Amino acid sequence: MKLRFAMGLALFLVVPGSALWAQETYTFKEGDRYGSGKWYMGREIAHVMGFAGVDWLERPEREREENTAMLLMNMGIQPDDTIADIGAGSGYHVFKMAPKAHQGLVYAVDIQDEMLETMRRSRQRKRISNVKVVKGGEQTVNLPENSVDKILMVDVYHEFSYPVEMIASIKNALRSDGKLYLIEYRKENPRVPIKEVHKMSEAQAVKEMEAAGFRLERNINNLPWQHCMVFVLAK
Ligand SMILES: C[S@@+](CC[C@H](N)C(=O)[O-])C[C@H]1O[C@@H](n2cnc3c(N)ncnc32)[C@H](O)[C@@H]1O
Repeated sequence: MKLRFAMGLALFLVVPGSALWAQETYTFKEGDRYGSGKWYMGREIAHVMGFAGVDWLERPEREREENTAMLLMNMGIQPDDTIADIGAGSGYHVFKMAPKAHQGLVYAVDIQDEMLETMRRSRQRKRISNVKVVKGGEQTVNLPENSVDKILMVDVYHEFSYPVEMIASIKNALRSDGKLYLIEYRKENPRVPIKEVHKMSEAQAVKEMEAAGFRLERNINNLPWQHCMVFVLAK
């Protein structure tokens, strides 16, 4: 913590304007033992799940636990949709969405090279031609402006180390009538067997997304463990 304070102070002295802004947007304090110590709007940001978690993402019981088929139905995927899966991991959802958007395109965005490589290999093995693997950054999705109909984020938003910058970048990529599907484990339900810092309440998600210029169109709420929140751009 002392080191973070010293770094913040040094930044403030060198670039006063930007340091002040950073201090106001994000704060640093100890919280959950699994948290990052970085906070945004009263929520502690989780650590990024490492590549070692791939087996868990691909576990055979996942379909039953999370009802992915229902999630895809909720998205109402059209054959010519352009979809972006942000924080796509091993591509668990990417390769289920791609055949449904067979005349369109699925961008599979992640920041970890091992995840990107895993998806490239799966794409080749499954002979899928409408998946584009994209390396994102901590503050950008690296997608073309105004190019995407649907954005999917499953179990990732809570671990963005720069949520403000990421949502601004997502907003830039989304078409004006596009939809953002924010899927997060329900914090309201203590029986959902996931670490607290990896869960989000609807109220917290709405607070953060409204600050970024989105409004909640609907929480479909038909998945066993997760919120299925549909956000659209606030007019
Ligand atoms: C818990 S995994 C979920 C993967 C996938 N969405 C799923 O449900 O199977 C979170 C993923 O988000 C990625 N991630 C974290 N921060 C990111 C960022 N700023 N941009 C893109 N991906 C990010 C991580 O590398 C990791 O692969």
